[in-house]
Amino acid sequence: MAENNQTAVAGNVAAKPKPAAPGGAKPAVSGAAKPAVSAGGVYKPPVDRQQSNPYKDSRVSAVNEWFSERFSMLIPIVDYLKKKEVPLHRHSIWYYFGGLTLFFFIVQVLTGLLLLQYYKPTESEAFASFVFIQQKVPFGWLVRQLHAWSANAMILMAFVHMFSTFFMKAYRKPRELMWVSGFVLFVLSLGFGFTGYLLPWNELAFFATQVGTEVPKVVPGGAFFVNILRGGEEVSAETLTRMFSMHVVLLPGILMIILAAHLMLVQVLGTSAPIGYKESGRITGYEKFFPNFLAKDVVGWLIGFALLIYLSVILPWEIGVKANPLAPAPVGIKPEWYFWGQFLLLKDFSFQGGELLAILLFTTAAIVWALVPFIDKKASREQKSPYFTVLGLFLCLAFVIYTFRVFLLYNV
Ligand code: HEM
Repeated sequence: MAENNQTAVAGNVAAKPKPAAPGGAKPAVSGAAKPAVSAGGVYKPPVDRQQSNPYKDSRVSAVNEWFSERFSMLIPIVDYLKKKEVPLHRHSIWYYFGGLTLFFFIVQVLTGLLLLQYYKPTESEAFASFVFIQQKVPFGWLVRQLHAWSANAMILMAFVHMFSTFFMKAYRKPRELMWVSGFVLFVLSLGFGFTGYLLPWNELAFFATQVGTEVPKVVPGGAFFVNILRGGEEVSAETLTRMFSMHVVLLPGILMIILAAHLMLVQVLGTSAPIGYKESGRITGYEKFFPNFLAKDVVGWLIGFALLIYLSVILPWEIGVKANPLAPAPVGIKPEWYFWGQFLLLKDFSFQGGELLAILLFTTAAIVWALVPFIDKKASREQKSPYFTVLGLFLCLAFVIYTFRVFLLYNV
């Protein structure tokens, strides 16, 4: 078999043999066939060497060629993206929510970096630095409001994306790890919300963090975990340092790695269609991911961004008053809306041993939810799995009802 670099392909020039290193073996003679068995009788597989520049004579721009030559290992990915298609059917709208979650995450990173230029994570300066950003820094108010609104939008979109992929059974074989990585992303997103809440060091955040970090104490050995989370027995300046480091270093670092894996899986495995849609002819066609689907994605992002600006102006988040650890907790303390479900569940289970039961229930449900692709065997065999649809409906409904109950009870 002839070596790769010796085969003259139309438009390509055969690579020059390299000069031999002193004392080294002689270069192969161009055009000569390489024997499959070497002189010593040992079989050597033919070497698949790449052309030094396989794009040299192709009709691409100079810039494209420059990049192609240096990042040739990315070419298959770009080619794949060009080939990727998204199925069209009456539920295609749900395919946009993963991209929207991603967009709001990008807004978080950018606005977070800007806030970091002025925010000071100490007990004495945190609140004042927020007031300064909000009142003195040019457009500081907008950056802070965008960060607060986009955090909520990201978590809302992650909820919608998670439930929509659940109901479309997009987690089924071979997309199990897309689901598991997505679940980790969801938990990390909640972690961002929790750790970011304390950073303004205002009264509401202080007492809500006190209530929130108290919860693990119900579980045997949980006090140890609470101590680590708070950096001591109580919520204090130490807690602020820990929440800050988690919010800007630990969580973003982990999230970036998991997100890269999630998005890579999305690209490699492609977009799924709901069970039976292909067979029953309910897929009306396929759309190219690049540029058609991506262009529509971007339209959604622009609408999302416009909405963020509108909300920032019309409904700005307040700064509140500086936290005073010695003052009594204000009445009606509650966490952010995405924790209302768990918060009320704990209150409903306030009988003897009830809180532990609630935590056990919640943890079991979360584990089952995370492992659903491995439990729902029917979906993996491309068969309908109505029990899992009912489970999803039940959890979705329970979340909405509990959240709405807090809304009514606490007169939000
Ligand atoms: C930071 C959070 C997340 C980001 C940025 C993200 C991003 C994306 C993107 C861009 C897609 C492709 C477009 C789409 O189908 O919507 C996708 C697909 C997917 N995501 Fe996520 N995702 C996140 C969280 C989650 C969560 C919480 C889950 C579920 C637990 C999940 C499960 C999936 C699955 C199963 C797919 C494949 C959909 C299909 O093939 O039809 N993702 N994700």
